[in-house]
Amino acid sequence: MTKDSLARIDESPNDAVTNPELLRDAIEGLSGAEKTLPPKWLYDRQGCDLFERITTLPEYYPTRTEAAILETHAAALGASIPPGGALVELGSGASVKTRTLLDAAPHLSAYVPVDIAAGFLEETAADLRRRYPRLDVVPVAADFTGPVPLSPRLRDVPKVGFFPGSTIGNLEPEIARDLLAGARAWPNVEGFILGVDLVKDTDELVAAYDDAQGVTAAFIGNLLTRLNRETGADFAHDAFAYEASWNAVATRIDMRLVSRRDQVVTLPGARIGFAAGEAIHVSAARKYTVENLGALARSAGWKLDRVLTDREDRFAVARLAP
Ligand code: AVI
Repeated sequence: MTKDSLARIDESPNDAVTNPELLRDAIEGLSGAEKTLPPKWLYDRQGCDLFERITTLPEYYPTRTEAAILETHAAALGASIPPGGALVELGSGASVKTRTLLDAAPHLSAYVPVDIAAGFLEETAADLRRRYPRLDVVPVAADFTGPVPLSPRLRDVPKVGFFPGSTIGNLEPEIARDLLAGARAWPNVEGFILGVDLVKDTDELVAAYDDAQGVTAAFIGNLLTRLNRETGADFAHDAFAYEASWNAVATRIDMRLVSRRDQVVTLPGARIGFAAGEAIHVSAARKYTVENLGALARSAGWKLDRVLTDREDRFAVARLAP
């Protein structure tokens, strides 16, 4: 059975498709020689919940390590945000770490959480309004890899970007550069606080993305459930196994779903053939050194102003200056 003979498109419309954009992305990604699915689709309601669980796993050190760095340096980071300024957070999720900065910067006038998960974003915004009644919380439901539509009323407000969690590591290098360059072009931008995970021991890295309880496997596998629900695809769950591996050349963890057998999956408008052992690349998590972080910042018009790390140099919170 050849892969090419199985990837065939037909034109019949299908009522089961509630998310045509996801279907388009899936067909495009699964029709190439290397099968891929864009990681942005991991974050439906269930995906957000599973990711929140990942952040508490013993193997997943980034969240707690970054939180400790933010807490240790909260006063200095808070002081670097201008009075009356706005903190613009990309990929805000539950905005948990943000509270450390919001507490340390009571002089902030606005907080702008930007996230693609609109429902989750509104719940988070409502919670923050209750916690910080004097803060203007202005959520933006958007894919932060594109232009961020900031409210015109914040035009003249000095802004500091905040992109924690090493989410930048999930982006292709040129998209990461464009994102930082886009933030550099915000009107009145005065700084950017960026969390990045650092290169370290391979076993520790792989364990962080392949935990013993299988929560990461469920998080990545949930994308197939979402495809079935929102596009009418017929992925069989037990037909794919989750695999995480370290790519030393690209200094990244690769997360894949590997077909357990020869099979054909049907999506409205396409039949996709898989050979046993063939993988769908779903997500990558790039890890940085201080040197290549500096190069990334410079390529986007920023300079590396300060790099704060934990004692074991596992994770870094960098302050970028224009
Ligand atoms: C959101 N992002 C920073 C996570 C990471 O560490 O790359 C996503 C993730 N995927 C699997 N585990 C965690």
